[in-house]
Amino acid sequence: MRSSYLVFGQPLIEQAEIDEVVGSLTSAWLGTGPKVAIFEQRVAEYMGVRHAVAVNSCTAGLHLACIALGLQPGDEVILPAMTFCATANAVIHAGATPVLVDVDPDTFNIDIADVRRKVTSRTKAIIPVHFAGRPCDMTSLLHIVREYELQMIEDCAHAIEATYHDRRVGSFGQVGVLSFYSTKNVVTGEGGMVLTNSAEIASKIKVLALHGMSADAWKRFSDDGYKHYEVVEVGFKYNMMDLQAAIGMHQIQRVETYWQQRQRIWNRYNEAFADLPVSCPAPIEPRTRHALHLYTLLVDHDRTGLGRDDFMFALHRLNIGTGVHYRPIPVHPVYQKRYGWRPADFPNADRIGASTVSLPLSARLTDRDVDDVIAAVRAVIRRS
Ligand SMILES: Cc1ncc(COP(=O)(O)O)c(C=O)c1O
Repeated sequence: MRSSYLVFGQPLIEQAEIDEVVGSLTSAWLGTGPKVAIFEQRVAEYMGVRHAVAVNSCTAGLHLACIALGLQPGDEVILPAMTFCATANAVIHAGATPVLVDVDPDTFNIDIADVRRKVTSRTKAIIPVHFAGRPCDMTSLLHIVREYELQMIEDCAHAIEATYHDRRVGSFGQVGVLSFYSTKNVVTGEGGMVLTNSAEIASKIKVLALHGMSADAWKRFSDDGYKHYEVVEVGFKYNMMDLQAAIGMHQIQRVETYWQQRQRIWNRYNEAFADLPVSCPAPIEPRTRHALHLYTLLVDHDRTGLGRDDFMFALHRLNIGTGVHYRPIPVHPVYQKRYGWRPADFPNADRIGASTVSLPLSARLTDRDVDDVIAAVRAVIRRS
């Protein structure tokens, strides 16, 4: 057994990030500034979009996207039942109504047939989530969006490296949003980025993210001298700090190297677990690139003789940390009370949510760490 605990989702932070953060601290410019601008430019280039606006979380970015697209009370927004609560909360905070659809049992992505069933005359937008880093079926989604004249916000929290038919996710709709939370593929501690090809949406989001103050208000205390600003929107405090961008501006330059490191781990897990009575991630669809954010096993009591939570606890006792992504939206009491959603109405999301477990998958893992995860998983399943 390992002597130290393998914490799930540890980021790999290198010397360049440490030096850059120290540089920000000693320069005394901690808040939004030139490093945020550099990070935005690097992300825009990597993602192949015209505009990238940094914010302090993906949640904030999703919320601003809903507002910038003009969602109003009474508008319905379709999103998958299998996602993090932030996807639904963003819609609710914008005053609109989330409408849940089930997910595909193999890909865990939004179920296209169920989307069609849930479209009404009130539907204004759809938020596909590229779950675990696997791109959604964008061909079908684009058909639906065009047919019903809907707007689309892509939740790319897991999917910075994902491509669909040779095009990066995040620009199929009006807006895409990335997360740089500490466990994500590129990290800033907390952070997010709104992607768009529309100058109008980008400018609106930039203003809304900083209190609604007129553009470039962050420069008001810079060495250019004090500048007056005007408040032109009722905005939020969602801006990213230079301290965070100091990490991200270096992380983004290693995004492909880290992806390759995770791919090696992914392939080792696939090989090591092929003979076990658990489900590994479905094969990757042709002409797509999976961002390899979460490596999930489905541990089903009927097949394995062990429930998911028992499996996680057994791994924990062997010093291996794991995660659950996610218990689906309809299991949570606040949504049940407010919208009357029941888990049984979303049977695929319900089954996945009850049996899914995410194994450590980070560029920081050593070969020895991966050996330990494999040995522990095999030992626990064999024992059962
Ligand atoms: C699918 C999805 N959307 C949105 C978010 C919110 O990201 P953040 O923590 O950056 O706000 C997460 C976070 O894990 C997520 O998994």
